[in-house]
Amino acid sequence: MLRSAFKGLFTVLETQHCLNLTSILRPLPCGGGSPKRALGTILVRFKSTQLTPMPRQEQPSLDPELYRAPSAVRGMTCLDRGAFAQTITVPGIRIPKVVINKVVKRLKRVALKRPGLKRVVDEDGGEESEHKLLLLDPTKITSSDAFSEEEAGTLRAFEVAQEVSQHELKLTYDNLKTEEILRAVLPEGQDVTSGFSRVGHIAHMNLRDHQLPYGNLIGQVLIDKNPGITCVVNKTNTIDSTYRNFQMEVLAGENKMVAKVRENGVPFEFDFSQVYWNPRLSTEHERVVSTLNRGDMVLDVFAGVGPFAVPAARRGCMVLANDLNPESHRWLKHNCQLNKVSSKVTTFNLDGREFIRGPVREQLPGLLASEVGVHFVMNLPALALEFLDAFKSLLVPELDKETSGKSNLPKVHCYGFSKEDDPKKDMVARASASLGFELEGHCSVHMVRNVAPNKEMMCVSFTLPREVLYGAHKDSQDEPAAKRQKCEEKLD
Ligand SMILES: C[S@@+](CC[C@H](N)C(=O)[O-])C[C@H]1O[C@@H](n2cnc3c(N)ncnc32)[C@H](O)[C@@H]1O
Repeated sequence: MLRSAFKGLFTVLETQHCLNLTSILRPLPCGGGSPKRALGTILVRFKSTQLTPMPRQEQPSLDPELYRAPSAVRGMTCLDRGAFAQTITVPGIRIPKVVINKVVKRLKRVALKRPGLKRVVDEDGGEESEHKLLLLDPTKITSSDAFSEEEAGTLRAFEVAQEVSQHELKLTYDNLKTEEILRAVLPEGQDVTSGFSRVGHIAHMNLRDHQLPYGNLIGQVLIDKNPGITCVVNKTNTIDSTYRNFQMEVLAGENKMVAKVRENGVPFEFDFSQVYWNPRLSTEHERVVSTLNRGDMVLDVFAGVGPFAVPAARRGCMVLANDLNPESHRWLKHNCQLNKVSSKVTTFNLDGREFIRGPVREQLPGLLASEVGVHFVMNLPALALEFLDAFKSLLVPELDKETSGKSNLPKVHCYGFSKEDDPKKDMVARASASLGFELEGHCSVHMVRNVAPNKEMMCVSFTLPREVLYGAHKDSQDEPAAKRQKCEEKLD
């Protein structure tokens, strides 16, 4: 009687729902077990598959884009996490409990990997069953033949039947990745890049025009998916302000702009909305600082909040650090205190030229008369090369007699952007023009990073030529501030 009930049920299901029951039933334990239990299992299996009718073929064929969120979320601007819930079908393979750990280890490549989802689950028999189910990645296993030779060998070795069945899985917002969520929400065919830079608890993004209406949702998703991020901002201008800080608007999360970060093990704090900070420069900061020796003098012309100055002082250098932005200057002092190096760093809030021609000019003769290594750091890539002219005739041979004959000349690290085909040549040419001295053959050029497809950040390093430092004065405009001041005093 049971047999004829099965047959009737199959015929109805196969014709009305276009289901391939052969494939649904194949993995079921056919021999053994009571007929009643077998029917119960079949009905459960049918229930779990009826939403996704199978094509009429031997092996299940699965859509590799099954993780796509429900289409109803398209265009959502206010995040409704519940709307992402869905039930999908994924492949699975029955593995005896006694070998499950060993087999799973060897099937890592094809095992389901979803945030927050278990990949080894009880099969229908629950705890009592001698088998467990390993859920598989539907983008890797589309049929029972999709295992690699090695994986198939593992299955044979552990006497696991190479048969893939399908299983229902509840997928929620928590199980989706950022990009999957955004791809489902943002207009189809448009770029969904969710890249961001992280500064402490702040993620900063550069949204394109078509992404702006979704700004709040994008921000919420980033906060949800990245532990530690509690504030997401969007840059609303390019970085061309004098102080190199961004205009920004908060997309989501708390409006708290004071960030705490560590760079190369050194702690820094600053108001990210008021100052310049770029996490992509940590390697460059480390590169330059590693060339310094204990007791050296560092003259940081565009110091920001101290990513060269503070580690240099921690390394045992004395530092004069300057920044024109009063907020940068304030946080620079704060970071010196934070790192307990205030006694080693003297800070200034001046224009870079005034800094070179004022406090630096005052100290330079004494420094050059000593054995101390002197290093200028000039990181304002958009303009720093132009500031090199501040070194022209900075010292006067007659006034700075003790130093003019010595060879302890300062080293300069000056940064610039280049869009030329040969950025090294371009950097050397521009630095030479600014100094009025041909640097070719007397400098090294380091490529710092690629800023944009056709824009490199470079660093040219050289020993400041004596001819520049003690050069003849062409006219009174070029005279160093110190000397000009003396003349003006005389006129008074
Ligand atoms: C690109 S940031 C570099 C900051 C830091 N040295 C670093 O490596 O992250 C340039 C810094 O130069 C400062 N600045 C801009 N114009 C200046 C000027 N004319 N004189 C002195 N500092 C200036 C900005 O406020 C900013 O902090």
